[in-house]
Amino acid sequence: MEKQEIRTFGRRHGKKLSTRQNTLLNTILPTLKPINLSTNTGLILEIGFGSGEHLREISREMPDKIIIGAEPFMNGVASLLSAITDESNSIRSEYENIRIFPDDVRDFLHTTDSKFEQIWILHPDPWPKAKHEKRRLLNTEFLNLLSYHLSKDGEIIIGTDHWEYFDWILNQAHQTNLCVSIPDLDTIHTRYQQKNKAGTSAPKYMILKN
Ligand SMILES: C[S@@+](CC[C@H](N)C(=O)[O-])C[C@H]1O[C@@H](n2cnc3c(N)ncnc32)[C@H](O)[C@@H]1O
Repeated sequence: MEKQEIRTFGRRHGKKLSTRQNTLLNTILPTLKPINLSTNTGLILEIGFGSGEHLREISREMPDKIIIGAEPFMNGVASLLSAITDESNSIRSEYENIRIFPDDVRDFLHTTDSKFEQIWILHPDPWPKAKHEKRRLLNTEFLNLLSYHLSKDGEIIIGTDHWEYFDWILNQAHQTNLCVSIPDLDTIHTRYQQKNKAGTSAPKYMILKN
């Protein structure tokens, strides 16, 4: 029997979606499945993209790469779809390189052999209560799974303003064969970071490589 994974995300659905968002989920989302991917060149993955601000940014910056986003929160997926389509519900030309997996990224990774040049994880859910620690996504087992999916010279970029979770992830990473570096990156803007600007610590970043 397959191992049941512990759920690492909160809600799948939030406030009621607009008619347009429902239309996009029914018509456009099925056309953006990450299928028929090349195995090891030109692929970028963002895990837990939220509303997709950063995903859109890297999609514009790297038009020759395929940018795959995984996110189980359907309101976030709907926000991204709204932002990448025009008034006739067609994908805007600058976002034609985006693919979406609207669910737990582990389900995607377990069914593909693809390797990624970059894997982005920005503000992963910190699950701060001790009793929820098992819900933290970035544990050793998951980091090893990501390591398998890195292309040659590929990198995992992790950012969080939850310093305790940052140290916890570092500790998990040190139990893998990944090489860890702490870069001096400028803040990468995501909606979560924007919302939490007041009163939270500055984000810290780490880069992991094979
Ligand atoms: C705190 S939010 C940050 C969202 C976005 N990166 C930002 O900075 O605005 C964390 C996101 O990770 C997503 N997430 C949690 N577990 C996940 C998983 N196993 N696969 C994909 N996404 C996941 C959640 O649904 C949530 O949207």
